[in-house]
Amino acid sequence: MTAAGLEGVVVAETVLSEVDGEAGRLLVRGRPIEELAGSVPFEEMARLLWDGLAPAAPTTAAEARAALGRSRVAAFGNVAALREPASRLPAVAAVRLGLASLHPAGSEDHYLATAAIPVFVAAFERARQGLPPVAPDPSLGQAADFLRMLRGDPASRAEEAALDAYLVTVAEHGMNASTFTARVVASTRAGVLPAVIAALAALEGPLHGGAPGPVLDMLDELRGQPDLRSWLDAELAAGRRLMGFGHRIYRVRDPRADVLKAEVARLRAGSRSAGGRLALAEAVEAAALAALAAFRPGRRIDTNVEFYTAVLLDALRIDRRLFTTIFAAGRVAGWTAHVFEQERANRLIRPQSAYVGPRPALAAASA
Ligand code: ACO
Repeated sequence: MTAAGLEGVVVAETVLSEVDGEAGRLLVRGRPIEELAGSVPFEEMARLLWDGLAPAAPTTAAEARAALGRSRVAAFGNVAALREPASRLPAVAAVRLGLASLHPAGSEDHYLATAAIPVFVAAFERARQGLPPVAPDPSLGQAADFLRMLRGDPASRAEEAALDAYLVTVAEHGMNASTFTARVVASTRAGVLPAVIAALAALEGPLHGGAPGPVLDMLDELRGQPDLRSWLDAELAAGRRLMGFGHRIYRVRDPRADVLKAEVARLRAGSRSAGGRLALAEAVEAAALAALAAFRPGRRIDTNVEFYTAVLLDALRIDRRLFTTIFAAGRVAGWTAHVFEQERANRLIRPQSAYVGPRPALAAASA
């Protein structure tokens, strides 16, 4: 019997996270995501994920922060040679090019991969805009340094906190498509960097990590529309999916949606201009949930993480072209932890397929 999309198939044991789709609960290293997001910086989340799995795992968030800072500086060394070709590629492909240019650093590869993503995203986006790159400041945290390298100006404390909360929220989430990809590649003993490059490629499709840009397109389309519901009904009737809704595992609301919504509200409270799309997003969300319930009465299709990701990253003035790469900047902590977990008890991941194609005529039958 085949399981389409491997639905319901357990492919690994993990100590990293538990996604309870019925209860709408995400535990990372035994702690609810609501407790982690907004209270620990990304460096602490990465430390938690790597703890006991990574070679020479950092013992404190400060140690992780220093190692990531050093690695951002190392990755920046490759920027000059890549800026021109990378500026002509879509953002995710440009980051893959950057990662492919890195020389493996052995026991430091998880730092290098994690640090390199924001460095390449910022530098290649600036190259696309015809701006010079901004060198990393290793004394800063990843979130603050990324915003600074991208825009050329220091981020406010509120912006740094909001991006930190986002990176923590998306850092780890069970056996999703990109994490599974990373584990398959790791099972061949390819190492951390190839596994991360493959995972990044798996993130490109709209069914996994590529949804937040289209969510923002939808919000733009709906701005000023007097009848949200009719527009959404027409999309569904035309066979199109509403981006930011639905999930393979969650049968209730994705808990990360509320975490991110709260971050947008917090950011908006600190600055009147930030979070301008929040009210529209709330109205669209309510109309979309009603439209989906009417369209698929037997199936609960609820809000997923990507919906408020779009609103939050937009409030941080990050271009929608970059959204998938920002997701990767958080999820890379989970990918690398899974690579180490796979390597610790490795068995080559090699499932089977059921052949249903033609066969050569049997000799006996043709005689
Ligand atoms: N809009 C409209 N219909 C939907 C949606 C949606 N967002 N989500 C599911 N459905 C419908 C499907 O059309 C399908 O109907 P069918 O049985 O007639 O074909 C039914 O619900 C079941 O859908 P599946 O694709 O089997 O559900 P699955 O669990 O595989 O899908 C997925 C999950 C891919 C996320 C889906 O809900 C979707 O396409 N959502 C929109 C894209 C999106 O938001 N992606 C980000 C996901 S979060 C992340 O990866 C970080």
